[in-house]
Amino acid sequence: MLIKTNGISIDYRDEGTGTPVIFIHAFPLNQTMWDDQLRALQNHCRAITIDLRGFGRSDAPQGPYLMDQMSSDVRGLMTALEIDRAVLVGLSMGGYVSLSFFRNYPHCVRAMVLADTRASADTAEGRERRLQSAERAETAGGRAIAQDMIPLLLGHTTRGNRPDVVERVRAMIEANSPVGIAGAQRGMAERRDSTDLLPAINLPTLILVGDEDTITNVGEAQDLSVAIRGARFRVLEGAGHLSNIESPQAFNAALIEFLETLNQVSER
Ligand code: MLT
Repeated sequence: MLIKTNGISIDYRDEGTGTPVIFIHAFPLNQTMWDDQLRALQNHCRAITIDLRGFGRSDAPQGPYLMDQMSSDVRGLMTALEIDRAVLVGLSMGGYVSLSFFRNYPHCVRAMVLADTRASADTAEGRERRLQSAERAETAGGRAIAQDMIPLLLGHTTRGNRPDVVERVRAMIEANSPVGIAGAQRGMAERRDSTDLLPAINLPTLILVGDEDTITNVGEAQDLSVAIRGARFRVLEGAGHLSNIESPQAFNAALIEFLETLNQVSER
């Protein structure tokens, strides 16, 4: 389904009833990375997935796509769906967007799940690598980006044992436009450091990370959980960076348990 916000079309899915939970995808994927969660969670909440600008079926205007721009698109989706407050579930780039959303619209956040992500900005070398990758997307296309990124995105267990998952991720990446991939890379290169924001997060928060994640390692995720007061922290075994795809059962169980604790708090 499509909505118009900030002058572009944004695609989304909206399943189930109850507490609205918005799933924000990683780079360079799309909302279908949440298919396992949508199936498992729609009996527990109102599960909403979004294709961020540049990805999936959403429009891909010229970048850079700043995190504030993408979080404004999420806010636009909430307005269109008449949702005042939502639980945000952001994985990696989705986590950067969630932190930007919290900075800009704190009263619209009920709780947060930050998976395989970090609060810090890029180092100078990291930024340089991103800008080169944006150019590579423009010259060599999504296929080249898939080749570069799959060994980083998926853990060794998945790469060794789950060719179906490898192909699913490859297809998602290759379906994205070079303009979208480059726009997001350049936007992430410009993202601000959100470390200062962490002590201000006074919401129930769950931090998840795959134990084979080499993009956000377990230590970085743990640092995030220490900096956010009262945050819960779970390590998912046998999963790399795309922990929701690689270890869906454990990921979903952690989410459902977290949502149940929220419902208990609101019932009291
Ligand atoms: C992602 O999975 O969204 C990316 O790895 C984020 C990043 O490149 O920092």
